[in-house]
Amino acid sequence: MKYQQARWEEALVFERSRKGSVGYSLPKVSEAVRKTIPKPLSEIPESLRRSSPPGLPELSEPEVMQHFIRLSQMNYCIDLGLYPLGSCTMKYNPPLNEEVIRNPQFSLLHPHQDCSTLQGILHIFFELQQWLAEISGVDSFSLQPAAGAQGELAGVLIIRAYHADQGELETRREIIIPDSAHGTNPASAAMAGFDVVVVPSNQQGQVDLQALQSAVSDQTAGLMLTNPNTLGLFEKEIETIAKIVHDAGGLLYYDGANLNANLGRVRPGDMGFDIIHINLHKTFATPHGGGGPGAGPVGVKSHLSQFLPVPVITFDGKKYALDTDRSKSIGRLHGFLGNAAVSLKAYAYIMRMGWQGLQAVSNHAVLNANYIMKQIERIKGFSIPFAPGVWRKHEVVISAKPLERDTGVSARDVAKALLDRGLHAPTFYFPAIVEEALMIEPTETFSKAELDRFIAALHEIGKEAYTDPQKVCEAPQRTAITRLDEVKAAHPRTMALTWRMYQKYQK
Ligand SMILES: Cc1ncc(COP(=O)(O)O)c(C=O)c1O
Repeated sequence: MKYQQARWEEALVFERSRKGSVGYSLPKVSEAVRKTIPKPLSEIPESLRRSSPPGLPELSEPEVMQHFIRLSQMNYCIDLGLYPLGSCTMKYNPPLNEEVIRNPQFSLLHPHQDCSTLQGILHIFFELQQWLAEISGVDSFSLQPAAGAQGELAGVLIIRAYHADQGELETRREIIIPDSAHGTNPASAAMAGFDVVVVPSNQQGQVDLQALQSAVSDQTAGLMLTNPNTLGLFEKEIETIAKIVHDAGGLLYYDGANLNANLGRVRPGDMGFDIIHINLHKTFATPHGGGGPGAGPVGVKSHLSQFLPVPVITFDGKKYALDTDRSKSIGRLHGFLGNAAVSLKAYAYIMRMGWQGLQAVSNHAVLNANYIMKQIERIKGFSIPFAPGVWRKHEVVISAKPLERDTGVSARDVAKALLDRGLHAPTFYFPAIVEEALMIEPTETFSKAELDRFIAALHEIGKEAYTDPQKVCEAPQRTAITRLDEVKAAHPRTMALTWRMYQKYQK
């Protein structure tokens, strides 16, 4: 399949602005009606008013539409094809979910309404709390956290509150995290004030039990783990791991960002975890990326339910209510009911799939990842590090180290060359324990034909690397933007994120 991304010489919307152009037309208002309209400016305190207009661009409606459609043509999206960004679970998002949340019975609700008038949505969210508990094998959930990373923070704050309640926080200062963990894990532990102790993986890509045994002590507050881990490998010794941590007086926290691999088959609660967060936006299909929007509800076994962030939705058999009265709660993490739209989409998704549908999700996610692994094993230049021959779960990490050694073409070059073939790149250089890592997560929503297109592209890139490495190193050429200077692109001194910053740099 030949691919050429659209390339528009598109000026910034501010540069396209023409004085006097307007993107709306409103009917004339009679003087009598005008007098009845309150003057909003007078309501705004003097100190908050601007001294001059905000300087917005002036364009007609079709001009605005053209501008954004052109920009979208210079972009890649999940609805165009495979988006195998490992660990991010970029799956197809059914538009039906969007229709559900646009229903005025949801979209016109005001969060300040009295609970007695919110019984419908509270019923839905109460049921969602229960379903998440059932799916993950814990006892209760709070929908408060607005992202996976915030769910993690909630989890470690619960660990902290629990040890404080036991009078042991002074000594229990350490959170143990495997070296294959997602970067947000150590960040969350550090934000909650803990010291991070890293345990290495063994040759099979699993937590090294001996290292774990020597890492735990009476200073252990808990362990943060995802299973399957970021190598896509299931931690077979999870029950032993749980026992080691529990025997030392620590709690087990499950990073549920990878729940896609487990849905309907195995539950973190049954593995011995005390606390879990679930990335609703990945597991239950919500468009996400670039930092949002997401939801990372946090769930716990019953002995920790008093620590959950509030409000938790409760039901007394007659009416639904918001329970904010948990004396040991870690408090609020978000306004109102959390990221309500994402929770609603997750509810619609789970309801439509049912238990069998959720099982089919994990079956296909795992099948697709292993199909890709088996095909890539045969491509010269790529290897499967850790536990060769062992089935992966939802994702597979490959190494382009042999290719780099033979030809100088790196994992980054391979990722860029994939863009030239109309595919999104996998995550690269993560996890850090794999040299020249390419982390591929196909998800369950792409067909065999699309997976074969990806594999064929990798074959082609591999071949090209051995015959014309320079060509691969110069990719991408067929995209709207060719290779960026990544240091410059991410440097705060050169990154112009707003019109104002851009103007400043021009000067
Ligand atoms: C394993 C893992 N944990 C945590 C997160 C953080 O989730 P979020 O991006 O919603 O903050 C991710 C995100 O990709 C992840 O893959």
